[in-house]
Formats: sequence, structure tokens, C-alpha cells
Amino acid sequence: MTLIELKNVSKSFNNKPLFKNISLNLNESKITTITGSSGSGKTTLLMMAGALLSPSSGDIYIMENKINSLKEKTLKQYRKSHIGFIFQHFNLFNTLNAYENISIGSDIFNKKEILKIMDDLNILHLKNEKVKYLSGGEKQRVAIARAIIKKPKIIIADEPTGNLDKDNTKNIMNIFRDLCDDYKISCLIATHDSFVADYSDFNVGV
Ligand SMILES: Nc1ncnc2c1ncn2[C@@H]1O[C@H](COP(=O)(O)OP(=O)(O)OP(=O)(O)O)[C@@H](O)[C@H]1O
Ligand SMILES: [Mg+2]
Repeated sequence: MTLIELKNVSKSFNNKPLFKNISLNLNESKITTITGSSGSGKTTLLMMAGALLSPSSGDIYIMENKINSLKEKTLKQYRKSHIGFIFQHFNLFNTLNAYENISIGSDIFNKKEILKIMDDLNILHLKNEKVKYLSGGEKQRVAIARAIIKKPKIIIADEPTGNLDKDNTKNIMNIFRDLCDDYKISCLIATHDSFVADYSDFNVGV
């Protein structure tokens, strides 16, 4: 099943075209990557797929509904319950600890599950550590845990392995793959990492 569809989407900023006529389908249980040089529009495309930004032309469908036919309230609810965002700059709360940052994103508070995900991501030992003292790669894994704890239908991840070494990158991709298989999640990932692009089911260039 297609969860999100982008059809001939183009984006311009200040009348300067950034990219033209991109089409892609985000399907259940599949990993899609977006690659392209810095400034080519990967983050912009991810924001459009996450209904956080409108295209200049073209259409976006969320579960077969055209986005601009949906009310902002419906979109807000949809983003909250169905999309897990992992932002390029993490957007964590620096003065809260790792555990608090992860639990803040979930309505259903399940301590055991949070600790299990932290263990899977090799950050369990950091649970009481304030995020401002963590390394870039550790923050990245806290942001990933926060997004996946709510078992969203769609994970939108902006360079989720940008600060990680090879072993942690492989581990993260295996975790995404397991989520796809076990919960029929669809992953959309912007990346510069050829290992991540090769690991995916589909790759789209911008
Ligand atoms: N709101 C905006 N107004 C004007 N220009 C913008 C806006 N948002 C993004 N841009 C421009 O669009 C271009 C693409 O930005 P984007 O962040 O999508 O690139 P990217 O591919 O994610 O790059 P990187 O690999 O460095 O993260 C940049 O030149 C950026 O300055
Ligand atoms: Mg970017």
C-alpha cells in the first residue's frame, strides 16, 4: 500500500527553481532514500513528504487524500500519530536527559519499551545524561529512538547516520529494516552515505 505519493512535485524559492517534477511513492515495508549534493533540496523534499511544506507545483497524496483537500487540524493529527521525524539537527531538549527526550514524544508511556529501544541503539548507559553533554552520534541515536518509539506508519529521517561510524550505521539500518518488516513502516531517508543508499529499496536523486 502507498502511504504517501508525490506526483510531479517542483519547488522554487524566490522564483529560483530548486528541483522539478519529482515523483515518488512511499510504500509500506519499504526504505526509500533521497540522495543529492548539499543544497540540492533533500531536506526540502522530506518536509514536503511530511506535510510540513507545500510544493510550488505538483500534488502530494497522503493515504490517497490530496494534501490540499485536508484541513490543517487533520494534518496536525496525522503528523502526530503517523509520522516519526528525525531532523538533521536533532531538535532535542538539551537540558533534559536522554530518557526524557525519548519519552516526551510518546503519549503511551512504556518504560520497558523505551529502555529496550535505548539498548538496541547502544545508548542505554546514557539514559540519565543531559543531552547537551552527549556527542553528535549519541544525540542522533536519541533522536532516532524518539521517532521510532511511537511506531509511526512513516519514518522521515534527515541524514540519520550523518554522525555515525560504520557499525552504528549498519545497526541503525538493520533497526529500520526490522521496523519495516515487523510493523509495515515506510522509511524515507535523506543521505550522503552510499552504504545507506545501497541498503534501500528505492533511491531518488535530487
Ligand atoms: N525557506 C527557504 N527560503 C529560501 N530558500 C530556502 C528555504 N529553504 C531552503 N532553501 C534553499 O533551498 C536549498 C536546498 O536546501 P535543503 O536544505 O533542502 O538542501 P539539502 O539537500 O538538504 O542540503 P544538505 O545536504 O546540506 O542538508 C538551499 O540552497 C537553501 O538555502
Ligand atoms: Mg539537508
